[in-house]
Amino acid sequence: MDYLILVNRSNLLPKDYVPEDLIDASSSYKKGIKVVSKVLEMFNLMKEEALKHNYHIDIMSAYRSYKYQNKIYQKLIAEKGFNYAFRHIAPPGASEHQTGLAIDICVYRDNKCYIEKDIAEYDEIKWLHKNIYRYGFILRYPEGKEAITGYDYEPWHIRYIGDKARYLYTHNLTLEEYKKLVKL
Ligand code: DAL
Ligand code: ZN
Repeated sequence: MDYLILVNRSNLLPKDYVPEDLIDASSSYKKGIKVVSKVLEMFNLMKEEALKHNYHIDIMSAYRSYKYQNKIYQKLIAEKGFNYAFRHIAPPGASEHQTGLAIDICVYRDNKCYIEKDIAEYDEIKWLHKNIYRYGFILRYPEGKEAITGYDYEPWHIRYIGDKARYLYTHNLTLEEYKKLVKL
């Protein structure tokens, strides 16, 4: 599997695309979650290290089918209008959740698992943002790169890309920027 696959509004996945090695990633927080096996392996190692600091994180969402992405896309448009939805959710075929390589992380506090924008200020998330690259993940929709990624800052959405994560992190590059760079 190409861990560096770029998926966005200009690089769509086919409607019937389903990654091969999806496995169950249900947590004590949420059941029925699936993700690519390598991604779960690396997430679990990271989660273990986070726990040593007393940071309790989990997976809120990972693989989403084309059909499911369409459902939540339409729902958000209906609830918040197109302009809001445009900045917060990918249309079906344009979401990297369909690759099974993306994870939305939540932070456990007081028996709840939080995923709002505010978690950017939590110690758990600050630690994560500095350490995910060591496990092959990047923060996919960072603050300040909205014009490039096409989405508002999502402190919870991480994406597995493998070894190149260190390079992207140290050079402050989005996947869009990196792909452009390596094509030159
Ligand atoms: N929230 C991200 C952009 C997605 O829907 O894939
Ligand atoms: Zn996400």
